[in-house]
Amino acid sequence: MNFFYSKKKKKSKDLKSVWEAMEECKKLGLARGIGVSNFTCSMLEELLSFAEIPPAVNQMNPAWQLKKLRDFCKAKGVHVTAYSPLGAARAKWGDNRVLGSDVIEEIALARGKTTAQISLRWVYEQGVSIVTKSYNKERMRQNLDIFDFCLTEEELEKMSHLPQRKGVTFASLLGPHDIVLEIDAEL
Ligand code: A2P
Repeated sequence: MNFFYSKKKKKSKDLKSVWEAMEECKKLGLARGIGVSNFTCSMLEELLSFAEIPPAVNQMNPAWQLKKLRDFCKAKGVHVTAYSPLGAARAKWGDNRVLGSDVIEEIALARGKTTAQISLRWVYEQGVSIVTKSYNKERMRQNLDIFDFCLTEEELEKMSHLPQRKGVTFASLLGPHDIVLEIDAEL
């Protein structure tokens, strides 16, 4: 379930009834798992106040680390998935702040890895699962080859200080509607 369903018309009833229907799908074996995307802490809190089955939630990358949201999810037992952990570099809505980061590149050069591998390893070490995409066989292989090294404390420290900025705002995709601006402000 995306954020839009829950905030639409600001009726928490909508969220409750949609989530109950999704829980029913799971109970009937029609869905293996049910989850949410782009939910903020307060939206998750509302959902968790009545959910029998807790959701999964997504979206973060080294340049938009969402530490508060991740801590919140961890405390509530909600798994986090990173969709576009490389910043969706070539997509219309993405940018080059992850793959073009000097800090990540410096770590990559020192470790004999690529910037993408350091970025994906960092996401993995945060306990977050990864949904990255490539049309290139070699880059797909490279993206899977991140399990034979660990980032050092010093490298993790550097990563934690990367400039943070939301890569894409919902307002830029959906227009400056009140609800959308409210969600952008909360993230
Ligand atoms: P390509 O398909 O040409 O490899 P995200 O997973 O954050 O949405 O990013 C996907 C983008 O990142 C795609 O444009 C993809 O391009 C590129 N990409 C994926 N893996 C790598 C990699 N290892 N090195 C450089 N670019 C990559």
